[in-house]
Amino acid sequence: MDPSKWIDVTVDKNHYSLDHFVIPKHYDQDLSSILIPHGVIMDRVQKLARLIVDENDGPLVVCCILKGGHQYFADLINCIKKLTTTRGHSIPLSLEFIRVKSYQNDQSVDVKISLTENELKDFEGKNLLIVEDIIDTGKTMVALLDRLQTYKPKDIKVTSLLIKKTERSNGYIPHYVGFAIPDAFVVGYALDYNEHFRDLDHICVISDHGKEAYAV
Ligand code: HPA
Ligand code: MG
Repeated sequence: MDPSKWIDVTVDKNHYSLDHFVIPKHYDQDLSSILIPHGVIMDRVQKLARLIVDENDGPLVVCCILKGGHQYFADLINCIKKLTTTRGHSIPLSLEFIRVKSYQNDQSVDVKISLTENELKDFEGKNLLIVEDIIDTGKTMVALLDRLQTYKPKDIKVTSLLIKKTERSNGYIPHYVGFAIPDAFVVGYALDYNEHFRDLDHICVISDHGKEAYAV
C-alpha cells in the first residue's frame, strides 16, 4: 500500500488523554495515552474491508495470525461479509488460524507455523489473505511469506492493522495497512504486553508503571 493511503498517527503528537474515553479500571495506572480510540479503529476496518472486496474477486483463504490478530480478523471478516451481501459482488471466504513463532538466527529469522504439513499443502493454488495486528521490524512477516510461498499458493496478500515507524524496520510494507504508529510499545484491541491488555478496546501506549506491573 502506498503510504499516502494509510492514516499516520505519528504526525499528530496529541494522543488522547485517558480521561477522554472509558478504559477498564484495572488498567488505570498502566497506560500513558490513547493512540487510536476503538471507534476510529472500527471505521478504518470498514474501509480496509472495502478495499479488499474491491480488489479481490476469487475465493479467499483468510489467515488469522494468533493471538494478536484475532480482533482485527473478527471485525474485518464481519465487514467483508456485510459488503459482499450488499454490493452485488460476493467473495467466498474460508478461515485459517495460525500461530507463528519466530527465532532469530545469525543472519535470518526462522518461523515455526502451527499448521500440519497437510494443512499447508492445501494452500496450493489458493488466494491467501494474511491478517496481522502489527508489522514492527517486518522480519517475522518476511520469513512467514518465504515459508508460505514454498506451498505454491496462487497469490498472497497481507493486511496489518498497524505498521510501526521504526529504524529497525526491514522495509516490508503490507498490501493493506490501517495506521502507521510511532516507535512505542502499544497494547489493546488484542495486542498484548506479556499476555495482558488484550481485553482493552482502544489502542494505547503502555506506561512505565504498566511495563513494571506486567514484566515477566
Ligand atoms: N505491541 C504489541 N505487540 C507487538 C508490538 C507492540 O508495540 N510490536 C511487536 N509486537
Ligand atoms: Mg502479531
